[in-house]
Amino acid sequence: MCGITGYLGDGDSVELIAQGLKNLEYRGYDSAGVAVVDDDVNVYKQEGTIDGITLPDSEPTAYGIGHTRWSTHGPPSDRNAHPHTDCTGDIAVVHNGIISNYHELKADLDGHIFESDTDTEVIPHLIEEELADGVDLLPAVQRVLDRLEGSFAIGVGQAGSERLIGARQDSPLVVGHGEDGTFLASDVTAFIEQTKFVSYLEDGDVVDVGVDGATVYNDGEVVDREPQEIKWDAEDTSKAGHDHYMHKEIHEQPHALRQTLSGRVDETAGKVDLELDLGDELLEGIDRVHIVACGTSYHAGLYAKRLFETYSGLSVEVSRASEYRVHDGHDPENTLAVAITQSGETADTLSAIRTAKSIGTPTLAVTNTVGSTVTREVDDTVYIRAGPEIGVAATKTFVSQVATLALVAVHAGRVRGTISASKAASFLQSVNQLPSAVQEVLNSEAVIERIAEKYADSESFFFIGKAYGHPVALESALKLKEISYEHAEGFPAGELKHGPLALVTEQTPVIALLTEGTEAAETMSNVKEVQSRGAPVIGLSSDSGKSEFCEELIEVPEMGEMEPVVANVALQLLAYHVADLKGRAIDKPRNLAKSVTVE
Ligand code: F6R
Repeated sequence: MCGITGYLGDGDSVELIAQGLKNLEYRGYDSAGVAVVDDDVNVYKQEGTIDGITLPDSEPTAYGIGHTRWSTHGPPSDRNAHPHTDCTGDIAVVHNGIISNYHELKADLDGHIFESDTDTEVIPHLIEEELADGVDLLPAVQRVLDRLEGSFAIGVGQAGSERLIGARQDSPLVVGHGEDGTFLASDVTAFIEQTKFVSYLEDGDVVDVGVDGATVYNDGEVVDREPQEIKWDAEDTSKAGHDHYMHKEIHEQPHALRQTLSGRVDETAGKVDLELDLGDELLEGIDRVHIVACGTSYHAGLYAKRLFETYSGLSVEVSRASEYRVHDGHDPENTLAVAITQSGETADTLSAIRTAKSIGTPTLAVTNTVGSTVTREVDDTVYIRAGPEIGVAATKTFVSQVATLALVAVHAGRVRGTISASKAASFLQSVNQLPSAVQEVLNSEAVIERIAEKYADSESFFFIGKAYGHPVALESALKLKEISYEHAEGFPAGELKHGPLALVTEQTPVIALLTEGTEAAETMSNVKEVQSRGAPVIGLSSDSGKSEFCEELIEVPEMGEMEPVVANVALQLLAYHVADLKGRAIDKPRNLAKSVTVE
């Protein structure tokens, strides 16, 4: 996730764009840049935030585009910072999202000089080619858009044109209608101090901003995107109207998942492309995987264990990174060590991966953070592409980790021949449905909020689940305890009767995963056990018939073995609302830090 902003009008363009980028820093902050457009294009950009860049004073005729970056292709660096330009230096482009076919597009751009490692840079060069054929800027951009695959929002400026072009496909872009000019931005936050009148672009929209304002096209036709008045204030801005980052990040999950999956899944062929450097030979030669991770990432690892065992025939051990040891007699050549860490900086996980490396085990990182320490130490990295997560409690990174690991499992299975193309295709179909399934759960937030109100004052909360339900029970309990400071525990459903049942009373609601992939029929007997001790049961299931066995039922869409991770989103909301009712510091819970860099 990156932040785009642009301005064309009578105001101080450079100042307005720089302010917009500061407001958008919550979307990414590893590098920044501005293209000031007039009779020529001047680009100012570097690694770090916009504060580190010396910008010129604005000329009255100047306008421009700006960008604050969260890397997905190429590490944070001056050369990878946006805007990117074409060979003539007359076209500048900023981009948010992923161009999934950029390799193919780049191969067609023979003779062009590329200066960065980004996917974005193909866009100005493609526009350059169209302009060389004598086409105007707007149709040139439209033709290029027809060739792009993936999810993206872009802003384009051209020397001497007095136009800014924007386009949106699966990535947000809005137009701000100011008194003295028009803004383009990833979201309203960028310009809220200047105007509250906003047009929300839709997928496929292309906006042409000139001195007279903005015209929006879709499929070549002019469309009306009626301006709406924003009701919230500048101080709410980086949270985009949400009370907490955590709430915003929970709601960003459909988008985060789309980014995770973008360009990686060929559902028809049952294939996955993760651009792995680790060769097929290595995946064929191993027979086990050691996953090392902490906290929420460890729970994603437990989910992945079952996916790997089901789809790639690999035997998987998941260790809390702080407990990871390699035993005598262990054969490193048969093993792949996988570090799961959203930050890429967790000291325990780094230490575990160093242990694995020290005996010659090949290593893979699954992380959200390009250029983080783990990526520099492992043999290969797969990015989860969830965008920056500011709330201390991990939410969108958990679902993106699970989705990424599902793709790794299918890829390994296809390479190893342990899964047929048709089985892979049907599983990938449900993986591809994750964004819409998660959106469905988010749409039922009012139900979950009511349940939170009903049980917020309970003594303790138990979460139970079997199979894929077990990691989700652990994760949901962790989420509730860390942000509400209430006692919560997650258990394999069958374990309750071996001890914890002694704690169950009418004051301990039991949240039961009764979805697909959780052996729900067996969990139902554990539900009966707790109900007969007076505990209220909150069930999660895609089967509405389960409501007669539970005090409350949260319904989730049918998703096969990915259903529990979708149910997890409902339980993030439950944790959020319990904590909110108690007035906790949700984004910065006491004693906790976002990145734990000590062992
Ligand atoms: C819980 C949470 C932590 C982290 C853990 C590992 O909400 O965020 O449990 O999951 O500290 O962090 P990473 O994934 O950065 O290694």
